[in-house]
Amino acid sequence: MAEPRVVCLPGDGIGAEVTAAATRVLRALLPEIVLEEQLLGGVAIHETGSPLPDATLAACRGADAVLLGAVGLPEFDGAAVRPEQGLIGLRGKLDVYANLRPARSETVDLLIVRELVGGLYYGARGRRDDGSAFDTCEYHPAQIERIARRAFDLARTRRRRVTSVDKANVLETSRLWREVVVRVASDYPDVELEHMLVDNAAMQLVLAPERFDVLVTENTFGDILSDEAAALTGGLGLAASASLGDDGPGIFEPVHGSAPDIAGRGIANPAAMLRSVALMLEHGLGRPELARALSAAVDETLESRPTTDLGGTATTDEFTDGVLERLGTDSSR
Ligand code: NAD
Ligand code: IPM
Ligand code: MN
Repeated sequence: MAEPRVVCLPGDGIGAEVTAAATRVLRALLPEIVLEEQLLGGVAIHETGSPLPDATLAACRGADAVLLGAVGLPEFDGAAVRPEQGLIGLRGKLDVYANLRPARSETVDLLIVRELVGGLYYGARGRRDDGSAFDTCEYHPAQIERIARRAFDLARTRRRRVTSVDKANVLETSRLWREVVVRVASDYPDVELEHMLVDNAAMQLVLAPERFDVLVTENTFGDILSDEAAALTGGLGLAASASLGDDGPGIFEPVHGSAPDIAGRGIANPAAMLRSVALMLEHGLGRPELARALSAAVDETLESRPTTDLGGTATTDEFTDGVLERLGTDSSR
């Protein structure tokens, strides 16, 4: 890739602050990179009326990768058109069905593989005349099969253990999920499969997170369990993700949101975003050696210059300065 083209979608709140940190680091690591900024979320509603403007979608489709900050603003609570619709729409349009959310600490090394473009988020919803509301969870076997294959393939690069998380004691979609996962597993005899109900999985994550390698689960369960896994390994300020399809650009985004409670103060931890940049370098731009250098620089800076969410005092800019200093002295570049 001679001139990698990345579309940046800073979005709202701290999304813009951590994206600014990411672009500083990306330009330092890859001077030839072409970065194009586009609107998504609340800022896009303000400027165009739509949370996912056509120009944004077109730019993303033409990019090698998409780097996304976060969307969501309290002023849209209760509104009919919401920032989050832009994010969900973009994921669906790019068909990035596999959301990889790694969580690592001294004792924990797990990977949540979250199905990202199906289930409750994409099913029929509405309100009825009697005042009630509904959301629909629906899965087609093909949607389950492709995410299960992705999880088993990833397990082969790790400790060869897959935990499939569902609610098969209650939900029909979960019973289908289990059937399809069992079928896919027969193609991976070298990978150990276990099934776990989601409520138990939530508890096991707290009690014995080190027992997990790859967890594969549907959209909503994956959303919830990935915040829990983030909390186990240092918090949302550290948790990165990659959203990948079969072809076309991936979306690389921190697990956290726009954090209205700290937005505008310059204190957001950019580590989750910088680790998402590392995932982009590895999975989106084919530069694993740069990804490793960046991950190491982030890890070292977390030790030497922690941000306030980790009990330190570093601002977003100071942390980013630290990462850039580490990278400047890194001979692997
Ligand atoms: P949040 O992730 O924005 O914040 C949860 C808590 O974690 C807050 O106390 C926040 O200050 C802290 N936090 C998050 N990221 C941090 C960082 N980098 N550094 C330091 N502290 C950090 O979740 P929320 O408050 O439930 O949601 C706020 C808005 O963000 C909502 O509109 C929601 O829809 C949206 N959201 C967007 C995304 C996304 O764009 N991918 C993800 C989650 C939530
Ligand atoms: C995430 C977020 C999103 C999700 C919201 C903002 C739509 O919580 O990326 O985890 O639920 O997928
Ligand atoms: Mn979430």
